[in-house]
Amino acid sequence: MKKPYYITTPIYYVNDKPHIGHAYTTIAADVIARFKRMDGYDVMFLTGTDEHGLKVNKSAELAGIDPQTFVDQVSQNFRDLMPILNVTPDRFIRTTESAHKKAAQEIWNRLIASGDIYLGSYEGWYSMRDEAFYAESELVDGKAPTGAPVEWLEEPSYFFRLSKWQEPLLTFYEQQPDFIAPNSRRNEVVKFVEGGLMDLSVSRTSFNWGVTVPNDEKHVMYVWLDALTNYLTGVGFPDTNLESYKKYWPADLHLMGKDIIRFHAVYWPAFLMAAGLEPPKRVFAHGWWTNEGQKISKSLGNVIDPIDLISQYGADAFRYVLMREVSFGQDGDFSISGMKNRINADLANAYGNLAQRVLSFIYKQCDGIIHASADLEPQDKVILLGLETALTEVRTAIDHQALHKMCDSIWQCIYDANAYVDAEKPWSLRKENPERMKVVLYVLCNVIKRLALLTFPILPQASETMLRLLGESDFDLENFSALIPDQRIIQEPHPVFPRIVDEA
Ligand code: ME8
Ligand code: MG
Repeated sequence: MKKPYYITTPIYYVNDKPHIGHAYTTIAADVIARFKRMDGYDVMFLTGTDEHGLKVNKSAELAGIDPQTFVDQVSQNFRDLMPILNVTPDRFIRTTESAHKKAAQEIWNRLIASGDIYLGSYEGWYSMRDEAFYAESELVDGKAPTGAPVEWLEEPSYFFRLSKWQEPLLTFYEQQPDFIAPNSRRNEVVKFVEGGLMDLSVSRTSFNWGVTVPNDEKHVMYVWLDALTNYLTGVGFPDTNLESYKKYWPADLHLMGKDIIRFHAVYWPAFLMAAGLEPPKRVFAHGWWTNEGQKISKSLGNVIDPIDLISQYGADAFRYVLMREVSFGQDGDFSISGMKNRINADLANAYGNLAQRVLSFIYKQCDGIIHASADLEPQDKVILLGLETALTEVRTAIDHQALHKMCDSIWQCIYDANAYVDAEKPWSLRKENPERMKVVLYVLCNVIKRLALLTFPILPQASETMLRLLGESDFDLENFSALIPDQRIIQEPHPVFPRIVDEA
């Protein structure tokens, strides 16, 4: 039986259209999911939309549409984004689905049964933009620490006994040191929990766009309690006897931006422990993108539209730049010039050129035939072995969500392979030593095949094209070391990564 691997992205608020931040988390999750699938795992990759709460309600009002019609429209934009990003979720979940409402209500009932929810009334600050409650002491210049505006609330509310979970959470973090990553985030969360936890308001009465609280219709569930539960709904909860639930829960990895680590690393495991369910194995928070050095915001009008960039540069290039430009976990800056440089240097020149010069040489000078050989020189073995090492490194990088390191390992092999071509000079060997030329080309075709397998999770389109040009059809990593058979005929090659030429 294959080993299960369950990975999730946040579910995105449908208050607005998708932007680069949404694309980033989703692509990163897709890279990991694709790699795990190739590596023999039974993968469940969940993404979707978060459709309840005050913020979404307000956006619907502003649009002058009833909330259900509004969320149907905006959620569809997110769903449509997936094939554009070339992202392959196994399920796209919506919190307005009846299956999800059932799951959220079941969680509620469990928390009532365990005595973790009680009725009280909330008096304090709330930020609609963050969908979060803030203590007076957290405010900075009358605003949330995130800079979001806050409003004063006074209403009857149910509370979750979060305070009771302070010690169990700290023990949990200690026993599972890999639960929160990167380390800086872990420290931040541990410090926050050590500082003491207040009970959390988990229902609202001043609007009704949410999951109804069981047995008290005046209340809707707090949007974060509702939203986090999607990770359970996605695998079949509340039916805990379901095959998919037993197989995939607890999740292997929740991926998200650093803005929402607290909800995932504090509230979520507390809700789960209180409900008698296992917490996820790991939460990883990546950094925040700025645009040409500036914070991205609607009011500044500098929101980056992933669809625009993809229509101009293609999904592969966009995916690569996002994975390569920034160490995963750190903040980073997006710039068009940076993107173009990466595309030209890493994709067109280094990788594309390697494949194109080798394959077109074989196609034109060797009748398109690959000749296998067992007569390998030490430098041939070294270059092939380099790919084996890269596979091991990539596997480790994936398990640490070190996606930039994944790129580093692969591109080192690409640079080495280009240096090997320059040193072996197959074009000169053609007259001087045609037998040796065949060996060199054979080695290079196997190097390109392995590179294409390694880049497949990041560059699915180009990698597939390269593998098909080489006559390969098996994209399983089990086939990674298998050498291309003798007399394999290649297809007429064409450059897979166009260079970007500026008009100016
Ligand atoms: O928070 N840079 O949804 P959301 C990097 N519905 N990533 C960014 C980004 C940026 N500038 N902007 C957004 C929510 N993101 C909740 C989640 S989960 C149970 C509920 C990404 O639409 C990043 O992953 O505000 C961040 O965590 C997510 O979008 C927030 O999306
Ligand atoms: Mg947000």
